Amino acid sequence: MNKNDIKNLDEIKNIIFSNKLKYNVKKNEFFSQKIKDVKDIQKIRVGTAFSGVGAFEQALQILGLPHEIVFACDNGGIMFEDIVKPEELKEFQKIKKKQEKLEFVENVYRNHKRNNFVKQSYLANYELPEDRFYHDVRFLGKHINKEIDVFVGGSPCQSFSAAGARGGFEDTRGTLFFEFARCVKEFQPKVFIYENVKGLTHHDGGRTFSTVLNTFDELGYKYFYKILNSKDYGIPQSRNRIFVIGFKDKDVNFEFPEPEELQFTMADFLIGDVDAKYTLSEKAKNFILNGDRIEKKRAQINGDIALCQMARQQVNCNGDFVDDKYFLSEKLIKCVMQTESKSGTMKFNPTINTDVAKTLTATMHKMHRASMDNYVTTRGKLRRLTPRECFRLMGFPDTFNFAVSDLQLYKQAGNSIVVDVLMAITQQIIKTKVFNKK
Ligand SMILES: C[S@@+](CC[C@H](N)C(=O)[O-])C[C@H]1O[C@@H](n2cnc3c(N)ncnc32)[C@H](O)[C@@H]1O
Repeated sequence: MNKNDIKNLDEIKNIIFSNKLKYNVKKNEFFSQKIKDVKDIQKIRVGTAFSGVGAFEQALQILGLPHEIVFACDNGGIMFEDIVKPEELKEFQKIKKKQEKLEFVENVYRNHKRNNFVKQSYLANYELPEDRFYHDVRFLGKHINKEIDVFVGGSPCQSFSAAGARGGFEDTRGTLFFEFARCVKEFQPKVFIYENVKGLTHHDGGRTFSTVLNTFDELGYKYFYKILNSKDYGIPQSRNRIFVIGFKDKDVNFEFPEPEELQFTMADFLIGDVDAKYTLSEKAKNFILNGDRIEKKRAQINGDIALCQMARQQVNCNGDFVDDKYFLSEKLIKCVMQTESKSGTMKFNPTINTDVAKTLTATMHKMHRASMDNYVTTRGKLRRLTPRECFRLMGFPDTFNFAVSDLQLYKQAGNSIVVDVLMAITQQIIKTKVFNKK
């Protein structure tokens, strides 16, 4: 590289950096949220069920709280009943001891060829020996002989379709909330955090939620509950979730975090793509396109904009140009932008580039209509959010490792809890001093 090239490279850097993403401000904010004085705080022993991508673990990391992950548990959507062989099931049914049952179940999962993508994501991001990542919450309990200080989980929301009718092993999908409660009873953590969709509070005319609260009453914990929206806690996504925070010590007084004014829009969280206004100058383009840079694949041309692979590697710390695959075809655009159903009986109100993202869902990979899913324009073209943007909108910093396919990432992001909301809640829990050293 000669002197002239270096000058040109600087120019390119300037162009890319001039796209000052507010997301960088947000990233810096992560570090400012570190709790400064942790010397009085004990090492918090954490257990999670329905662990997903570990939103709570991420919150503890960002807050810089001393902690140890004791166990996590997630079946990755693979039901034990669906993978156990009939002869194994017979053997399983003879087992009496809980620990042996757990080991049997874990073995069935381990020997099965279906991949648990949630586990894959989790272990790529958190320090936990693989044998302490359990698969099925129904077999988890104090028999694992581990003490925890906090237990966290958000059971799948379908659980509530059959609330009240507690099923046994045979009708499993309906009753996972009760498994969460059972684990609290068995592990006796100082604190539990339970999360679920807002709809839980009015499901079945409020009867389901009464059952939930009665169950928590029976645990003998003092608990507090509130619906929080992530847009009130620093994240430009409207996501209402019910949080129940329980304390073993009944003298504890806990207050939910106060809402704060939103400083960011969804656009601030998008990848720093080289938009039309940042198109490279002729001079810069010449630099990229000259010589053997294209042949050696150090530079590439994408659509009508020249992208500089070299600059990407050296400059753009968000690492990113939006890949073509996230843009919508004409046919898809027509489909997602529909304003009414084919029969004309249903009307839709498609919106794009909204300031606050609509709730991210576990099925967003299917690309629902723009009246309910998030679409944005880049370089004047309509596209869906990338998995990285979805994770940002769930409060996960870009240090979160991606170890699975886009499809799985969309599902996992849509299922998660917003990290910033958990950070705000955790800061309030810390104020109660329950985690202070004795
Ligand atoms: C609504 S998501 C919760 C995700 C999590 N809160 C997070 O931060 O990513 C529910 C999770 O429960 C898991 N799950 C479903 N049935 C389960 C079971 N029987 N045992 C353990 N996990 C289960 C699903 O795989 C899914 O990841």
